[in-house]
Amino acid sequence: MSNSSESILANGYSIFHGTDAWRAFSKFINLGAKTYASVNILVDAQVEQFCLPALIEKAPSLANASIIRIPSGEASKNIDTVIQIWKTLQENGATRHSLLINLGGGVITDTGGFAASTFKRGMDFINIPTTLLGQVDAAIGGKTGIDFLEIKNQVGLIKCPAAVFVFPEYLKTQDHEQLRSGYAEILKYGLITDKQLWESAISNHSDFSNYSESTWRELIQKSLIIKNDIVLKDPEEQGLRKLLNFGHTVGHAIEAHALKNDELPISHGRAVAIGMICEAYISSRVLNLSTAELDQIAQALLRIFEKGDLLIPDDSTLIELMRHDKKNVNSNISFTLLNSIASAEIDQHCETKIISEALNYYRDL
Ligand code: GLY
Repeated sequence: MSNSSESILANGYSIFHGTDAWRAFSKFINLGAKTYASVNILVDAQVEQFCLPALIEKAPSLANASIIRIPSGEASKNIDTVIQIWKTLQENGATRHSLLINLGGGVITDTGGFAASTFKRGMDFINIPTTLLGQVDAAIGGKTGIDFLEIKNQVGLIKCPAAVFVFPEYLKTQDHEQLRSGYAEILKYGLITDKQLWESAISNHSDFSNYSESTWRELIQKSLIIKNDIVLKDPEEQGLRKLLNFGHTVGHAIEAHALKNDELPISHGRAVAIGMICEAYISSRVLNLSTAELDQIAQALLRIFEKGDLLIPDDSTLIELMRHDKKNVNSNISFTLLNSIASAEIDQHCETKIISEALNYYRDL
């Protein structure tokens, strides 16, 4: 199957995102009923209440599937949750010929993908992302894994799902903060590769409740195509795929700090938005990003992610966390930076004093 307005061909699997995605889903499940030994569905409480009923309505045979429940939130993306999933799969009599349906946000698809890929040396799983962040980023690309010793995504493997189904209708279950978190990744795709996407995403942005389903469909499709094209060229992140890390070196350090200190969780998107502002500043010092573009990026991101009372941890703590990032070679902190909007460069480095300048640039905005 080639790419169309209905589906995108990924690395050995299809991403169904169009208006026909529900039909493709029930077809997959009906066919799967003949080929899979059993079906398990991984959910958290919110997803079970608000998203599972629609799934069962479209594919009634799923009423017989076993439900595996895990707590929601980044704090449960850990080995204890994986053990709980393995145990429940075992108790349910799952075999390597069973299917796990990951229904939820990035925590569910990353953790469920990892648990399925390792259970009995690997069973099939499909991802049905219910958050914007999941729909434009976390559910595709093949990276699965968990946080370990307070470092994000520290243990995992690259294993692709058997299929991904994206239903923008599920975005109605999302609050503003959850939508905003996914929006940061859409903005990132624009900044690294597509000026038009960046400009339309910042100029259209007002209140997400005004976004029609077709606006979401268009933004999601553009994002999926950008990410999928990059991942197809470099599935193992040897080079090009690092483009997707723009904003994430600083962003992951901010998230890891919150995780480590049991602080109020900061959304991934907010952390990445701060990361993109800081890394745009570094781009202006290390590459050729103009002051005008730096200013535009910072002001646009601040309009969407207003500063509020979030305090950025001190420089040395954050820089230490950046050193643990698995994107680094040795202890050299690696960044993806911008030459200009829609022109990014991987494997960039800078002195720590420039990182401090960047954090201060954000603090002073
Ligand atoms: N699971 C997210 C990715 O592969 O990028």
